[in-house]
Amino acid sequence: MTTDFTQPIVAPSLLAGDFSQLGEEARRVEAAGADWLHLDVMDGHFVDNISFGPAVVAAMKKSVGLTLDVHLMISRPDHYLKRFIDAGAHSIHVHLEAKHDVAATLRAIREAGCLAGLAINPGTSLAGAREYLPNIDLLLVMTVNPGFGGQEFIASTMDKVSEAARLRQENGWTFHIEVDGGIKADTARVAREAGANVFVAGTSVFRAGDAAAAIKTIRGQ
Ligand code: DX5
Ligand code: ZN
Repeated sequence: MTTDFTQPIVAPSLLAGDFSQLGEEARRVEAAGADWLHLDVMDGHFVDNISFGPAVVAAMKKSVGLTLDVHLMISRPDHYLKRFIDAGAHSIHVHLEAKHDVAATLRAIREAGCLAGLAINPGTSLAGAREYLPNIDLLLVMTVNPGFGGQEFIASTMDKVSEAARLRQENGWTFHIEVDGGIKADTARVAREAGANVFVAGTSVFRAGDAAAAIKTIRGQ
């Protein structure tokens, strides 16, 4: 995994794709130049929505060669972890706010050979995540309240992005900073300037007339 934080990585979220043809949708964004495919797993308990589970992750593994970036918005990520690892996830994000031994879950993700991501909700301070920062590969700063696609970017979350970038620099840590929710050309620029380098984008890529052009503008090209 690169530690070049200047290279933007665009991860379209399949949640905004056409569920009647998920394989085609994933191939469409792969052909359009996506770097990763972001997979939003929701259990109807941690968030007020139900999306899909490990079977869809496994199906995507067969459909595309993209890095599968799995975002677990579920109450017991530790309990379900192995199923997502077996399904072929490359990176797995677990929420700080979920009910589990966060350090142990992050360790288990790494031990399985996956990238360990820690996700924090807009209302959660970076201070709460501080102790985990030396041992993660990705910090997922939620820029909307998790649960639904198509929401508006919450600009105040950018303070956490810049603070995380500053702490990373000061301490020589190596996690990527990923932003998720309401990302399109202008908000991606704001997030990039704050220090983010991984951009999750559902609506702005899948619902764009030209997905390749949308991905380019998110990249800042
Ligand atoms: C929100 C999800 C996001 C969301 C992004 O709970 O984690 O990944 O689908 O969708 P847009 O880009 O439409 O905000
Ligand atoms: Zn997500």
